[in-house]
Amino acid sequence: MKTRITELFGIEHPIIQGGMHFVGFAELAAAVSNAGGLGIITGLTQKTPELLAKEIARCREMTDKPFGVNLTFLPTFSAPPYPEYIQAIIEGGVKAVETAGRSPEKYMPQMKAAGIKVIHKCTSVRHSLKAESIGCDAISVDGFECGGHPGEDDIPNFILLPRAAEELKIPFVASGGMADGRSLVAALALGAEGMNMGTRFIATKEAPVHENVKQAIVKASELDTRLIMRSLRNTERVLMNEGVKRIMEIERAKGAALTIDDIHDQVAGIYPKVMLEGDMESGAWSCGMVAGLIHDVPTCKELIDRIMREADELITQRLRAFNGR
Ligand SMILES: Cc1cc2nc3c(=O)[nH]c(=O)nc-3n(C[C@H](O)[C@H](O)[C@H](O)COP(=O)(O)O)c2cc1C
Repeated sequence: MKTRITELFGIEHPIIQGGMHFVGFAELAAAVSNAGGLGIITGLTQKTPELLAKEIARCREMTDKPFGVNLTFLPTFSAPPYPEYIQAIIEGGVKAVETAGRSPEKYMPQMKAAGIKVIHKCTSVRHSLKAESIGCDAISVDGFECGGHPGEDDIPNFILLPRAAEELKIPFVASGGMADGRSLVAALALGAEGMNMGTRFIATKEAPVHENVKQAIVKASELDTRLIMRSLRNTERVLMNEGVKRIMEIERAKGAALTIDDIHDQVAGIYPKVMLEGDMESGAWSCGMVAGLIHDVPTCKELIDRIMREADELITQRLRAFNGR
């Protein structure tokens, strides 16, 4: 399938694997790219720019296809050295960067001078337009369904994607709630030129996370995520567990007086415990409502091939049949 997204990134299928903390290691990024999508290494999971450089080199040993790096500009407890991370990306020869969180404006000249294509993840049309105006090449439009940070507008993709299509000139992918061929065809119908998946790619054979995480996603239904940190305007969609219950109790007790320090212990440093050790109740980790549509743990190639086959059948059979009536 050819779209402006496949052309932009030089990939076979219009499917991107979103950056994911302690999931987006070289193994997953390489597997997605080898399957014809765009795999993404999560920059900040690597504690230093030097470690990111090593992760990029490791990925390059596993694939000769294009892959990208995610740089997340979120409120963190201590600001990372972004220019040095970008330098590691440039020196590693990576040509695609997925930015997320705050605007990447400050860093655009450094990335553009190196010929990097920037796809910025946005949860609103106004942020998408801003990203377009500062020279981003594409947008990952992230609906309210998404795992991770859905923003504060709460607009689901059935509205957000066609609104983005009404306003944007640069291409965009649909992100949040995407799982299969139906998602891809729907995304294309609503104006996107591909899709970005997070949660779905965790439940794959190559995702280098504990088996407990994959099984938790397979077992979860669409009812099992919760939103935390709303009152801090740093909302995160996470899978319900004992740690999340503790956070919600603290949030209820503190009300509008809640500060990040009140829940620091249940949100900071949790990812390695969950993703690497499989300690599923230890605290909050991002997960999308799309868990309800995830019933197996295929390889990335099986997943992407299946998505493309389903999409083709939907377009050429189901939709065509409606057209003939
Ligand atoms: C476990 C997990 C960790 C994530 N970490 C990040 C991150 O560090 N940076 C980022 O930009 N997005 C992150 N995301 C968001 C994903 O890149 C993607 O936008 C989102 O998962 C899409 O929604 P979906 O899960 O419904 O597919 C994370 C998502 C998950 C599920």
